[in-house]
Formats: sequence, structure tokens, C-alpha cells
Amino acid sequence: MKKKLLITRKLPSHIIEPLRNYYDIAEWSEEEAIMPRQRLLASVKDCEALWVTLADKVDEELLAHAPNLKIVSTLSVGFNNIDVSALHSRDIIATNTPDVLTDTTADLVFALLLATARRIPEAERYLREGQWQGWYPLQLVGKDVGGATIGIIGLGRIGQAVAKRALGFNMNVLYYNRSRKIANEEQYGFQFREFEDVLKESDFVVIMTPYSKETEGLIGARELALMKDDAILINAARGGIVDEDALYHVLKDGKLWAVGLDVFEQEPVALNHPLLTLPNVVALPHIGSATLQTRTAMMNLNVQALLAYAQGQQVLNQIH
Ligand code: NAP
Ligand code: GLV
Repeated sequence: MKKKLLITRKLPSHIIEPLRNYYDIAEWSEEEAIMPRQRLLASVKDCEALWVTLADKVDEELLAHAPNLKIVSTLSVGFNNIDVSALHSRDIIATNTPDVLTDTTADLVFALLLATARRIPEAERYLREGQWQGWYPLQLVGKDVGGATIGIIGLGRIGQAVAKRALGFNMNVLYYNRSRKIANEEQYGFQFREFEDVLKESDFVVIMTPYSKETEGLIGARELALMKDDAILINAARGGIVDEDALYHVLKDGKLWAVGLDVFEQEPVALNHPLLTLPNVVALPHIGSATLQTRTAMMNLNVQALLAYAQGQQVLNQIH
């Protein structure tokens, strides 16, 4: 008898096809809209396998509805949507999609860095709104990226990929990470600094840690105050690591050159969110890994894990 698999989003049929040999698959019918929570709780009842996205919470409540669950795969590298210890205490495997999205997400971080420094979205609005009457010397002037100091908080896979890109822009790379990355320091000249020193010394501060109890509110009013008055902050990690209220007030007071955000405390972010009223906030709808190649590679990692589980083989990309 086939195992039951629930997929919480509509995914391309050719991607999930190989799973049909092993699983009876129930799929949420919509690509864009999230599966409503009550529907998810009801649908997971008989499932042995669950394929979720970062928008689905896999917590004690869900597990209480899923007595047969043995594997959960998330279409993301970040796994703060999953209560991993609750899964492990029930011997349920959790898998994610590391590595394949590293370069794509680092590219997006750099896109945000250039967009904020050179005011790209603002300049485009200026042109489309008919404000462009001619060229003048201090028109839409930005900040140089080349030669500036970038400080990366969280020098993991994506943080390192951002740092390597920064070298191509002749930037000075500082970082803070709980564990030192000595090999990176020796090979690329990245310099370790204590957390507060990264904030004080950097022209660009990039947050690239996972979201956890420890990183929740990591960048609040106190930390923002430590940053240079004309620094740029980029958060493409998770909403909630940066305190949005504190960030808004700091920006309103004229501190910081700009902010680039791919992630928000509440997603989708409300259109009346105060941060969206500010011209120097570049806001994106969580598209860090959104290229066709990378999203396909991510889905294939989930398929690989679910197939390996069904075939009794070693499951790769387990979250420990
Ligand atoms: P990773 O390789 O695990 O890197 C995370 C790094 O953060 C590690 O080096 C870790 O090192 C460090 N870290 C953890 N807690 C820290 C703390 N409290 N202070 C300082 N450093 C800390 O993960 P990754 O693949 O680079 O992904 C990072 C995160 O990016 C994901 O968890 C996800 O939330 C986010 N992400 C967002 C998008 C997007 O679409 N915007 C796409 C992909 C990923 P230590 O534990 O040694 O400190
Ligand atoms: C995206 O945010 C991810 O964690 O993969």
C-alpha cells in the first residue's frame, strides 16, 4: 500500500511525478494562496509524509493532528517554521533545501545592496512619474559600493557567498558569527569583529543568520543607534530579526542612508506598513531564492528526500 503524502502548495506536476510510485498524494489546489490552517490540520491526519513551504507552521498543534507522520520536508533552507525538537522527540525526520539556493540568494542580497546604495527603485519611480526634467549634478546621488566596508552578521553559506561577491566590488569585509571562520579569514581576508564593532564600522550591514530565539530582535533600537548615520542595512534572512518599529523610527529621525528588506515580521507585509511610506526603504516580497533554476533545484531536493524515505534509503539534508 502506498504511503500518504500531503503537499501544501500546488507544485509543477512533472516535479512531483516520481513520488507517485510511492505515495498517494493530496495537494492543495492553489499555487499562490496558503492552505488554510484548519484545512491543513484536517488533511494531515492520515499522512506519513508532509511537504510544506516556509509559510506553513509545523508545530505541536499540527503534530497532534498527525499521529502517522514520519517525515516533513520544507521548501526552504530556513526552518524556523518547524518545531524541530518536537519532531525529533517523535522520531519524525525533517529536511530542508540547503546549498542549492546559496548563490541565488546572495545575488539578491547584492541586488538590494546596489538598489539601496544607488537608489534604483526611487530613480525608476522618478522617471515613470514624469519628474525627469533633465540632468543635474546632484540628481539622485547615491553612495559608492566599491571600496566601502560591508559587515555580515551570520557568515554561513549565504553570508560567505555575499562576502565573496563583495570582494569583487573591492569591499572591505567584516563579519560576526558565533563561531569564527578562520579558513575564510585566511583565504579571503574576511575580518572577524565582535557584533557591536561590525555595526559601528560597516557602511553596509547585512543580516544573514537564521531566525531563532537568539536572533529574534537582534537588531533593535540600541543596535541601530550603533550604526553609522549613513549606513545601509540589508535583511534577507528573516523578518523579526530586525525590529521593524525601531527601524521605522530610526529612519524617520533621518538616520541610515537606506534599508533593503526581502523579509518581514508578517508576510505578506501590509500595504499600510509604516516602512513602506519611506522612499529609502527598498522592499521585496521574499524573493531571495526565486529563480526558476533554483526553485526547481529546491523542489528536487525535497523530492529526493521523500523518495529516499519511501525507499528506506538514507535521507539527505536532514535538519539536526
Ligand atoms: P547557514 O549556512 O546555517 O548560515 C547561518 C549562519 O548564521 C551560520 O554561519 C551561523 O553560524 C550563524 N549564526 C547563527 N546564529 C547566529 C547568531 N545568533 N549570531 C551570529 N551568527 C549566527 O544558513 P544559510 O544557508 O546561509 O541561510 C541563512 C538564513 O537565510 C536561513 O536560515 C534563512 O532564514 C535565510 N534565507 C532567506 C532567503 C530569502 O529568500 N530571503 C533565502 C535563503 C535563506 P554559528 O552558528 O556558528 O554562529
Ligand atoms: C527562504 O527564505 C529560505 O529559507 O529558503
